[in-house]
Amino acid sequence: MEKGIARYSLYTMAFLAVGVAIHAMRYDAVPDNIYLGVDSAIRGVIARVPVQALTHMIVGPIALLLGPWQFFPRLRSSRPRLHRWTGRTYVAACLVSGMGALFTAPFASGGPVASVGFTMLAVLWIGTTFAGWRAAVARNFELHRILMRFSYAMTFGAVTLRLQIPFGFMFFGFTSYREMSVWLAYTSWIPNVIVVALYTFATSMRRRGTSAVAA
Ligand code: HEM
Repeated sequence: MEKGIARYSLYTMAFLAVGVAIHAMRYDAVPDNIYLGVDSAIRGVIARVPVQALTHMIVGPIALLLGPWQFFPRLRSSRPRLHRWTGRTYVAACLVSGMGALFTAPFASGGPVASVGFTMLAVLWIGTTFAGWRAAVARNFELHRILMRFSYAMTFGAVTLRLQIPFGFMFFGFTSYREMSVWLAYTSWIPNVIVVALYTFATSMRRRGTSAVAA
């Protein structure tokens, strides 16, 4: 039953991540001056800081797309080389997109309060992903697993953010993305991090309970 729920959650996560990543690929056309449904506030950000904004927006979807498969236990154990190479590419995409995000955040369309939220996210994203990679290199796989869960919780903020936008318009009276961005800079990722923290705490307590019984 529990395994079924975990598998269903992983499939849902992968499905949403692939959908949002494909949708975000419209930014690949921006260097050719083609803006496919890009919000005017975001166009303003790109106009001010094109290199860092587009580095972030074009590379970010690669991390989003590669992340979910790393969490499927069977894929990880049956194709360890694939896990390693996908993981390295994921880390590189997070670090490059994260640096782009860090230098885009001061220009966030929601102003200084949004900038603080996105800057915190960028610093934590880069730091957690880098530390997760170092833990794997040091063969500390327990720590690696935990840190990569947190890394992807932040990467998945790209999905949570987009899911929250229609609710903001429908139920909270927002009239533009720019207005909402002040909140989204926090609500897009803090709940994800809390869910992962609770999950990690619950699984470690359960494991401790099992080993105490076995002893
Ligand atoms: C986790 C760390 C991340 C940080 C710190 C971050 C930061 C930012 C910032 C500051 C903006 C400008 C938003 C505004 O002006 O209101 C932005 C926009 C954007 N980001 Fe990220 N982001 C992150 C993750 C991602 C990921 C994983 C993706 C992958 C899809 C992504 C894709 C985009 C796109 C496509 C935009 C343009 C706005 C839109 O279409 O909604 N970001 N990001």
